[in-house]
Amino acid sequence: TLINTFSKKLLTWHAASGRSGLPWQGNRDPYAVWVSEIMLQQTQVATVLERYPRFMKRFPTVKKLAAADIDEVLAEWAGLGYYSRARNLHACAKQVMHDFSGKFPHDPLLLEQLKGIGRSTAGAIAAFAFHERAPILDANVKRILARLFAIEGAVQDKAVNDRLWKLAQDLLPNQPKDMPVYTQALMDFGATWCTARKPVCISADKKCPFAKDCQANLSNQVLALPQKTVK
Ligand code: ADE
Repeated sequence: TLINTFSKKLLTWHAASGRSGLPWQGNRDPYAVWVSEIMLQQTQVATVLERYPRFMKRFPTVKKLAAADIDEVLAEWAGLGYYSRARNLHACAKQVMHDFSGKFPHDPLLLEQLKGIGRSTAGAIAAFAFHERAPILDANVKRILARLFAIEGAVQDKAVNDRLWKLAQDLLPNQPKDMPVYTQALMDFGATWCTARKPVCISADKKCPFAKDCQANLSNQVLALPQKTVK
């Protein structure tokens, strides 16, 4: 079944077609992972590529970030937008210093209690920094799963969301060592192949490795899933 084969197929796809060489990849420092994930939430990869190294040079450790003045953090964040992220980053650094002796917790449930870290970002940090078998479920992953399993209903719907989290958990690779690459592969696959408007399955040149597994593809529903929210 697809549940059993998905992670291996995705890892094979990533080796051939995933993004690589980004400065935050392959870095197991939880602080570096956390800063990159927060920056990447609402800022394009190209912009993060320009600003991330500068931020890390200015605030190289969680201790230095926590000790900085909030105005210095906001100044360094200038131009990146969504400034609540910078305020949460600073508050989170203080939480890590005071509540966790300067060490990020490994457990995604504890990470999720920190300022500015939601359930999916907690999973990403746990997977990238600590090889935890924790799922992510951002908008790209919701789209991939809604299509593969032809899940109808709005992804914001509680029952739909619960189902997607369960699938995200069930699809994880068995080996903890595969978690960082697997998590990056999911993000890359959603961002570059299983895209909202031009997924590769509807164009001719590239062949999606899941074409014969994907319930939405098999029933010609790819562009109709995930379903748009009716407000
Ligand atoms: N968006 C959020 N996290 C990301 C990552 N690790 N790589 C690329 N885009 C991302």
